Amino acid sequence: MDNLIKEVLYTEDQIKEKVRELAKQISKDYEGKKVLCIGILKGSVVFLSDIIREMDVEVEIDFMAVSSYGHSTKSSGVVRILKDLNYDIEGKDVLIIEDIIDTGTTLKYLCEYLKGRKPKTLKVCCLLDKPERRNADIKSDYTGFVIPDYFIVGYGIDYADRFRQLPYIGVPKEEVYSDK
Ligand code: IMP
Ligand code: MG
Repeated sequence: MDNLIKEVLYTEDQIKEKVRELAKQISKDYEGKKVLCIGILKGSVVFLSDIIREMDVEVEIDFMAVSSYGHSTKSSGVVRILKDLNYDIEGKDVLIIEDIIDTGTTLKYLCEYLKGRKPKTLKVCCLLDKPERRNADIKSDYTGFVIPDYFIVGYGIDYADRFRQLPYIGVPKEEVYSDK
């Protein structure tokens, strides 16, 4: 699988350090509270499982799935809910855990949707931010790495459901897109 990667952007160690840093900040901000972390499937699964283990506050988890890029590298701009939350979030301190903010369409939609369910607070934590392509007015409260407009994979993030198990974040070779 490594031979299909053109460039490693962040190594396993760099990610580990960043996740620890984010968890420390979150633990400080939510001191004495319980945080409901909502992972956005499937890309955030690896990030969520690592970051909650570094958090020093009480944590609950739940998941949502929304339509993604499918087998394309560009967002369709249309968001559909494929799996909703299992629990009520009213009155809770909710933290969305997302892999990447790109155009911001997904998060904007999710934030509006979740706000309608009356959480006590709603914040966003994302590992990667690609501000260049942003077209929705949305910001992340906790951001790992800000990157240029590269299509990346690894650490839970996929291309056509591949590469999620890579422990690092990298840019796939062009041939990956052409051998479907
Ligand atoms: P947005 O709605 O354009 O912000 O898209 C966000 C979602 O698109 C993320 O949750 C990812 O699942 C996916 N995505 C955005 N950029 C990439 C990428 O570089 N590689 C893989 N998936 C991506
Ligand atoms: Mg996603």
